[in-house]
Amino acid sequence: MDEDVTQDQDRNSTQPRILIVGSAGQLGVELQKSYAGTGPITAVDLPTIDITNEAQLRAFIRETDPHIILNAAAYTAVDRAESEPELAYAVNAEAPRIMAEESLRSNALLIHYSTDYVFDGTKAGPWLETDTPNPLSVYGATKLAGEQSVASVGGRYLIFRTSWVYGSHGKNFLLTMLRLGQERDQLSIVDDQIGAPTTANLLAAATRSIVAAIQGGEFGEAASWSGLYHMTCSGSTSWFGFAQAIFSRASRMLGAKTPTLTPISTSAYPTPAQRPHNSILSNEKLNRRFGVALGTWESALDDVFAVLMAE
Ligand SMILES: NC(=O)c1ccc[n+]([C@@H]2O[C@H](COP(=O)([O-])OP(=O)(O)OC[C@H]3O[C@@H](n4cnc5c(N)ncnc54)[C@H](OP(=O)(O)O)[C@@H]3O)[C@@H](O)[C@H]2O)c1
Repeated sequence: MDEDVTQDQDRNSTQPRILIVGSAGQLGVELQKSYAGTGPITAVDLPTIDITNEAQLRAFIRETDPHIILNAAAYTAVDRAESEPELAYAVNAEAPRIMAEESLRSNALLIHYSTDYVFDGTKAGPWLETDTPNPLSVYGATKLAGEQSVASVGGRYLIFRTSWVYGSHGKNFLLTMLRLGQERDQLSIVDDQIGAPTTANLLAAATRSIVAAIQGGEFGEAASWSGLYHMTCSGSTSWFGFAQAIFSRASRMLGAKTPTLTPISTSAYPTPAQRPHNSILSNEKLNRRFGVALGTWESALDDVFAVLMAE
């Protein structure tokens, strides 16, 4: 059905109008699933909308007039961003500013997502929201600029910083491993970058439950909850450890062949963009403010395998 028709039909709904931007991405798809049946939803991505086109983005938001904007769109090609900084900045920093301005204008709630790559990875323990960012890459710098633009516009907003996002579809480490595992007998995987693999479906579910509580008045005025929160699965591992966990499940649950895995250091696998060694984010603030915890990365991985088995 034509989106405009959907909008018109839904105008009279008493439920909040929801706009999901970046709806074809990993998180966007899961947000659509999480919100299915909850009321009028407009879900858009390229090529229907290009969020780097300011006039188009503003017009689209005004036309759909959402109560809640979920911005799952991003320029996420971390290495390519090193050679496309302007485009990465336009998607990751400028567009969120425009969404924040439009949200402020209509008193809508803006949910925006950011990344562990805003940090330089040098801290010994988990990163807090109050720690000073120091991105090592263009991608990290543009995502930090996006956080700052949303926060400086103000209004009703939440920024969820997450890490190592994956799921049963889309471009991600899990699906790359499963493909490479069938193609090769041996894989070398970086073992000195640590973080918390986090599934898109858990991010979407947590977003939905926090937004519902906010809309229901549970957390009071925006001044008491608007802000930046870390949101990842609990526990941590390296990319090598994540690969081991993937192949042990793939062999057990999917009957896939397991390649020989060799741990290597970052220096043995040079990439255009530098990545943080320690990407672990503390979720204490999220837990304290909203009573939300995503669960362990291992159980989230089990859940994704259950989905893969069912497909
Ligand atoms: N993936 C991770 O490991 C990771 C880690 C930490 C934080 N995050 C953050 O989590 C959020 C969701 O990430 P994700 O993994 O779901 O990203 P994703 O799968 O790459 O999805 C992003 C979506 O945004 C779309 N998009 C890009 N440029 C656009 C434009 N100019 N106009 C409209 N749409 C555009 C993409 O379309 P195309 O595919 O056609 O470009 C894609 O559908 C992002 O804020 C990301 O920075 C991700």
